[in-house]
Amino acid sequence: MSPPAAQPPSTIAVIGLGSIGGIAAGCLLTAGLHDLFACVRRPLQSLTLDRPGSSATLPLRALTSPDAAQPVDWVLVCTKTHETEAIGPWLQRLCGPATRVAVLQNGLGHAERVAPFIGGAAVVPAIVYYNGERLAPDHVRLTPVGERDVAVSDDATGRAFAALFDGTPLRVATSAEFTTLLWRKLLINAAANPMTALTRQRQAVLRRPDIHALCLTVLGEAVAVGRAEGAALAEDEAERIMAALLTYAPGLGTSMYFDTLAGRPLEADAILGAIVAAGERHGIPTPCNQTLLTLLRAISDAAKTAG
Ligand SMILES: NC(=O)c1ccc[n+]([C@@H]2O[C@H](COP(=O)([O-])OP(=O)(O)OC[C@H]3O[C@@H](n4cnc5c(N)ncnc54)[C@H](OP(=O)(O)O)[C@@H]3O)[C@@H](O)[C@H]2O)c1
Repeated sequence: MSPPAAQPPSTIAVIGLGSIGGIAAGCLLTAGLHDLFACVRRPLQSLTLDRPGSSATLPLRALTSPDAAQPVDWVLVCTKTHETEAIGPWLQRLCGPATRVAVLQNGLGHAERVAPFIGGAAVVPAIVYYNGERLAPDHVRLTPVGERDVAVSDDATGRAFAALFDGTPLRVATSAEFTTLLWRKLLINAAANPMTALTRQRQAVLRRPDIHALCLTVLGEAVAVGRAEGAALAEDEAERIMAALLTYAPGLGTSMYFDTLAGRPLEADAILGAIVAAGERHGIPTPCNQTLLTLLRAISDAAKTAG
């Protein structure tokens, strides 16, 4: 049998060249199969990608103004969730009728967040599993976690997104159980992010029996909501999530922990807000999630005002 035909190069715009976007861009540039540029706020000429066992500095094309952008085949949205509205002008310039928009963000509501800016473009919500760290504006480090780096739905656009990464170091998997995977990732974030941010302590805080018990209550509410949303979550899903979290090194931080320490706005609405809103739709009470959401919103709003 002859090998599958190589796919033609795609034009790709990466918006949000931070930890996650820098790594996605760096992996695509490493393979050199597509025509990629980054949409940034400050000029950049190159991108250094560190990954286990290697480091490479790659030439990078970067645009600093949406006015210079034209429609592309693919847009990768890699900002924080609350930064999506601000990239509206980029999305409006980059999206034509044939454009596909992959949203590499935590939480729920990927398609809803970009919908006001993309016309009829198709959206691929993506779950990010890899750990990304931004060492400098032009330097990122990839630490793979688990058996895949990104998961997308097993449909035509999901498969097309996965194919973009063929030949790159990033392992993109398609899944027929996407809703369940999305909720499992959301549950991890719903427990670890608020507890580390509110206590200003790293993952070790989850080992306290009182915090562990609080996490189980928060997760119990969220699991009930996730099931109502169609996720195939187990009876003991909350306990499984906590067991998984306890395998993480106690010294690891979470993005919400780092954002709190740095006085940056938090992704509270995309994570806890999404759980509370879905609970309201299904008539499922989520008082603990609501309490954490209120506290985190207060911290986040103060950061926005200060910033
Ligand atoms: N980091 C991880 O390990 C990890 C893992 C799983 C999921 N996630 C999720 O992935 C998403 C991205 O997170 P991240 O860690 O990559 O965030 P990040 O490091 O803060 O990167 C966000 C990037 O967006 C850029 N940006 C923000 N507003 C912009 C605008 N108006 N125009 C152009 N660029 C703009 C920022 O640029 P500036 O440099 O100009 O500020 C920054 O480069 C989040 O939803 C996060 O929860 C992260």
